[in-house]
Amino acid sequence: MTELFVPVDHALGDLTGQLTRALRGAVQGGRLAAGARLPSTRALAAQLGLSRGVVVECYAQLVAEGYLVGVRGSGTRVAAGVARPPAQEPPADPDRPPGHDLKPGTPDLAAFPRAAWLAATRRALTAAQHGRLGYGDPAGLPELRAELAGHLGRVRAAAAGPGEVTVIAGVAQGLSLLVRVLAARGPQRYAVEDPCSPGTLALLRAHGVEPVGVPVDRDGLDVAALAATGATVVLVTPAHQYPTGVVLAPARRAELIAWARESGALVVEDDYDAEFRYDREPVGCLQGLAPDSVVHLGSLSKSLAPALRLGWAVLPGPLAADFHHAKRYADLGTGVIEQLTFAELLSGGGYDRHLRTVRAVYRRRRDALADALRSALPATEVRGVAAGLHLYLELPPGTAEEAVVAAALERDLRVEPVGPMRLSPGPPALALGFGVLPERRLARAVELLAEAVDSAGGTGRTGRV
Ligand SMILES: Cc1ncc(COP(=O)(O)O)c(C=O)c1O
Repeated sequence: MTELFVPVDHALGDLTGQLTRALRGAVQGGRLAAGARLPSTRALAAQLGLSRGVVVECYAQLVAEGYLVGVRGSGTRVAAGVARPPAQEPPADPDRPPGHDLKPGTPDLAAFPRAAWLAATRRALTAAQHGRLGYGDPAGLPELRAELAGHLGRVRAAAAGPGEVTVIAGVAQGLSLLVRVLAARGPQRYAVEDPCSPGTLALLRAHGVEPVGVPVDRDGLDVAALAATGATVVLVTPAHQYPTGVVLAPARRAELIAWARESGALVVEDDYDAEFRYDREPVGCLQGLAPDSVVHLGSLSKSLAPALRLGWAVLPGPLAADFHHAKRYADLGTGVIEQLTFAELLSGGGYDRHLRTVRAVYRRRRDALADALRSALPATEVRGVAAGLHLYLELPPGTAEEAVVAAALERDLRVEPVGPMRLSPGPPALALGFGVLPERRLARAVELLAEAVDSAGGTGRTGRV
């Protein structure tokens, strides 16, 4: 006889109805298979603490509906052909990464230092008093703020003591909080680099901000054009402009800071991938030059993994209290165990070791991608410095970006068009990530890209028109 679990709650009343619905559902869903023998009315009533009459009524109802059949001499059984067909396989995931993934900005998640992270978590949890597992300071744990202040001073030439560093859940959260804090101070006019990260653009728009675009050239943001916009806040990626890959030139840095000081505007520095510079030491951050005018944002999303949702903000003093207030009421603080772990990884040197390891890997991958592009697509141009996790490929004039992207997808290759990153029209280009694929597979991806450019009617292979 079939063992049957039927949830019946005496407190809810209508026991016959409850039992009938539960059994009908079990048959429809296939939990009770065709031909399965049900317990006798007496046994089920005893099992469920019901009067036998309730079970008799329920079985009679389901026999009348065709779900059960009474078979003389062998009790009640499940009728044939009434179970619903089994659920279909879930549809293929439209976000499934393609076989050849050149999506920009993704680190190699297989390189996440699991053993070092686990060991740091173990050390941190072993040392932490029980009381540490309550809410921490919403601005961040003191030991992580101190470690970060030291780290950012050393590797990014930031000018920040522990009190100026706030722990956040990534650059995106830093921007969201800042928009709220600044809105409370009065109307703002935002400027962004053109082109810029589509994620940043979408985030600003989600907060009701429609930024004005400021052109980027070989030296980075055009500060004279910025000054003409009347912006009160500008978002920049000075160490490695996203997506063009240029570095903000020294003269432009000085101009930008002078503009901010004169106009009282705020510069928001997104230092998203500054850990990775392959041809020389990275340039120091803007914040170190003008701590009074620059908000500096960074995160572990490129250096370790976006999944951690862990980052930092360094703010000019007058903004810090409002920012901490906003952070407190956004989430009561970033996860304490992750903060303790990251502090441990920083203090033990594990973070620096990881950066050294992956930097060498990414450098080889970038070289491999750039070399393959130069030989397979000589009429295209790799622009920007050797840094980060992506490079910027300018396509020959007249190439239809979207057609190249579509032709690439047909070959199971993902590349990102720069068009959607622009606020005003610009030359056709792609942003190509090299963080994920090893060298051999990058070479194959470039072969496929060359085919895609050809089939889209481009002239990348043969020379400029
Ligand atoms: C330009 C830019 N800034 C910042 C981020 C990272 O944001 P978060 O630190 O919130 O993960 C990204 C990630 O894709 C990015 O491309």
